[in-house]
Amino acid sequence: MNTEFDEVVSLPEKDEVRFRTGAQPAFKARPEMDEALRSTTNSMSSKSIWQRLKDRFLTKSEEVPQEEPVRDCFWKVDIHSHLLPGVDDGVSSWEESLACLKQFAEWGITKVITTPHVSRDYFPNKYYQLLEGQEQLQAMVREHNLPLTIEVAAEYLLDDFFLDLLNKREVLSFGPEKYLLVETAWSSAPLHLSDLIFRIQSAGYTPILAHPERYKYYKDFEAELSRHRDAGCLLQLNAMSLSGKYGDQARRQGKILLKNGWADFIGSDLHRPGDLPRFEKIFSLPEFKELAQQPLRNARLV
Ligand SMILES: [Fe+2]
Repeated sequence: MNTEFDEVVSLPEKDEVRFRTGAQPAFKARPEMDEALRSTTNSMSSKSIWQRLKDRFLTKSEEVPQEEPVRDCFWKVDIHSHLLPGVDDGVSSWEESLACLKQFAEWGITKVITTPHVSRDYFPNKYYQLLEGQEQLQAMVREHNLPLTIEVAAEYLLDDFFLDLLNKREVLSFGPEKYLLVETAWSSAPLHLSDLIFRIQSAGYTPILAHPERYKYYKDFEAELSRHRDAGCLLQLNAMSLSGKYGDQARRQGKILLKNGWADFIGSDLHRPGDLPRFEKIFSLPEFKELAQQPLRNARLV
């Protein structure tokens, strides 16, 4: 089909659009041209034409600014990560640990309480070994002038090894409330979880259940979590559950924690630098704003 608008040969002056149309003269731009242009150029490079016209005619004040999310870990203290190399499935080198810590500092974290796994079967770490790692980590932070303080505690799997350690008081807690970070297996709860919570409290510690939203065994998530919380067990939400790292169920259950105002702590559960982009996503989620409404206790640990 022959069209009177064959090709754009140059960008027009502000009030004039010029096309090469055979002998067609230049003419004034009119509103009705918009529709004509749209219908006659859509099989050509109409998109780039409109982009170029828009660029040409939109003044700076008419452009819609892109809003950058604020990347600020306002809770200041991260209480769950795996940043001691060689003791669990977390970072594999000091360089990886340093990369994670630098990023944390840039996002406003001022204190990192890192929490290597402790369990009988996979990571039977002793407290004194972990404390040696704490010194090395602190030395590295000093050497690189990072504005961070470092502590090492642990994430205890609720197995019989943990009960031995608890009985001997060979556990690493943190904060004035003597918080103990504990986890369960993914797919089956330990028998008598309520009893274990009570035993931890009786030994003088305050239990924090790590990432309850990640466990898959609940029959009634809300009812069971409500019961634990009423019994004095605090709950720690993983930030990356909200950005979908652990799948739909964890994300859904994480949102239930937020809806009820049950996030006593937020934690990164960072294992490696490769987790950082997923973590960064939380800053642009709607749930990020909801975090500010939670009873987070992180900042009390500064
Ligand atoms: Fe963890």
